[in-house]
Amino acid sequence: MSERTPVEEAADPTGAMLSEDPSFERLLQFLRDSRSFDFTGYKRPSLMRRVRYRMREIGIESFDDYQDVLQLEPREFTALFNTILINVTSFFRDLDAWEYLRIDILPQVLEASNGSPLRVWSAGSSAGQEAYTIAMLLHEELGSSFRERVKIYATDIDEDALNYARQASYTERETRSLPETYRDRYFDLVNGRYVFTADLRRSVIFGRNDLTSDAPISRIDILLCRNTLMYLNAETQERVVRRLGFALRKNGVLFLGKAEMLLNHASVFDPIDLKRRFFRRVRTDIAEGAGFGAVGFPGARAIVADNRLRNEILLTNPIAQIAVGSDGRLAMVNHRAATMLGLSDRDLDRPFQDLEVSYRPIELRSHLATVTESRAPVWLREVEWRRSGPDLVYVDVHLVPLMASTGEVLGASISFTDVTRFRQLRVEVETANRQLELAYEELQSTNEELETTNEELQSTVEELETTNEELQSTNEELETMNEELQSANDELQSTNEELRDRTIEITDLNAFMESILGSLEAAVIVLNRDLVVQVWTRQAHDLWGLRADEAIGHHLLNLDSGLPTADLHPWLRSVITGQEDAIIGRHINAVNRRGRLVQLRVTVTTLRADGEQPAGALVLMEDISEIDSAAESSRSEEKA
Ligand SMILES: C[S@@+](CC[C@H](N)C(=O)[O-])C[C@H]1O[C@@H](n2cnc3c(N)ncnc32)[C@H](O)[C@@H]1O
Repeated sequence: MSERTPVEEAADPTGAMLSEDPSFERLLQFLRDSRSFDFTGYKRPSLMRRVRYRMREIGIESFDDYQDVLQLEPREFTALFNTILINVTSFFRDLDAWEYLRIDILPQVLEASNGSPLRVWSAGSSAGQEAYTIAMLLHEELGSSFRERVKIYATDIDEDALNYARQASYTERETRSLPETYRDRYFDLVNGRYVFTADLRRSVIFGRNDLTSDAPISRIDILLCRNTLMYLNAETQERVVRRLGFALRKNGVLFLGKAEMLLNHASVFDPIDLKRRFFRRVRTDIAEGAGFGAVGFPGARAIVADNRLRNEILLTNPIAQIAVGSDGRLAMVNHRAATMLGLSDRDLDRPFQDLEVSYRPIELRSHLATVTESRAPVWLREVEWRRSGPDLVYVDVHLVPLMASTGEVLGASISFTDVTRFRQLRVEVETANRQLELAYEELQSTNEELETTNEELQSTVEELETTNEELQSTNEELETMNEELQSANDELQSTNEELRDRTIEITDLNAFMESILGSLEAAVIVLNRDLVVQVWTRQAHDLWGLRADEAIGHHLLNLDSGLPTADLHPWLRSVITGQEDAIIGRHINAVNRRGRLVQLRVTVTTLRADGEQPAGALVLMEDISEIDSAAESSRSEEKA
């Protein structure tokens, strides 16, 4: 579970901060001042989450430390902006709304444009899918005239996204949301990627535009600004929407994302379809209501011949009414006025200025003068009147000049309408409205917050999918390597088996050789060309007292035994150098290991290998002492 700071907890759903984290605000100012990326108008909760996400990736805990990293490592800016600017998008995102655009909106816009050029703006277009979607729809409607009539401006704050969009080349996964007919008609498969057709691509112009600070593009017929406003706080949204209003022609269409709404812009935009977020730019220069004129209503003029009847009508009128003559004296008071204003018949003919009503609840003398002079009525609305008790009463006071048919001013009528109840109701309605608006704004903002979180999740899922794909491909590589190793292993195994067979053969041969050599009467010594002992038989051991392991591998002349090396050496030399093939049956005397004098018959033969040169020498030594002494004694016996 990720830890949350108390400041994050304090963030309210409209994106404003109840209390700001100064180090985070400093970081935002640093980004604005050093890189001209102004995120100060973005909603704090999701913005903070994204920055923290990036910080976690590189193991940084505090915003101040992260600012130091950015200062030391400018490449970190790119990584941060890529994390903050969520580029989640797709072709025909929210298909239902695009269908509505195709079926209901586009035909109207095209009819209204009456063959003149059409300007479209996709603001916050991300990797271009939105701009290409509207291009396809317009091409479906316009056919061959599309090229000369349509210009689509696609802008974003993110240069990397724009560069990707300019390539107009998408992976199979990115085109999955495209209805098949559109993919077949408008995309070519090149090296495993789907490339948007060059003919339509030419009508889409990409450029960087920061909605929060750059001037809008003008005279736009259709403006798509989808899933971008929702990242901004209410104040910045308001500013940006006002600019979007400037960008659109009169009756131009604005298309928002499904979580976005236009609050407080009723004077500029009329909803076309609220659910699918289509709005129409309306005129703002319509004059306000013209107000009241002094024009009479001839149709309303009643013919009341009977004076008594006329009097009765006046006196019983439920609205309090008095009349002041041209001489400034009170000329008439009806029943309601008598009760309401505390007047009676006794006040008739008194100078108006002497009566309390002339200055309470409001100063009327000057207004009376104005009415008679200008001959135009005057409305004084919701005049506050504290009568006897603590309760306030509100009245509308209406002064109307009374004129004879000759045009002469006869006086003025003053009526007092009690509007306390209406006012109360209006205040209640206004409060309820404000609460409703607030609740709606909160709802809207929560909705946007949900959508941004959704996009964050989607972007994380996409990242995970990519990592997964990478892992999969690494896995596949490992698998191939494994198979290669397995096959190398198999080869080694069979070589090993061959070697084992050979070793067995050699061991057998060796044993065979040893048994041959061992069954000879003579001692056998085999030497290589350097006179290093290779074979030393048991008989050699018996004769010279050295075991095979003490002799083999040693130079013959270095062996500490009674070997007659002085005799042997020249024979060995002549055999090894090839001067002679063999020295056969030479008799020499030597002292064996028991210190006994022995007579030896020595044969040295060349040891031939494959080459021309002798590979060494083979020495055979026969102890013939006993044979000789036997011969000696037989000779002596014969002589005797
Ligand atoms: C979630 S994408 C929406 C893409 C596309 N309009 C859609 O609905 O599929 C939001 C885009 O708004 C861009 N954006 C964020 N702040 C911006 C700003 N101040 N000005 C222009 N574009 C901005 C981001 O770079 C991102 O590409």
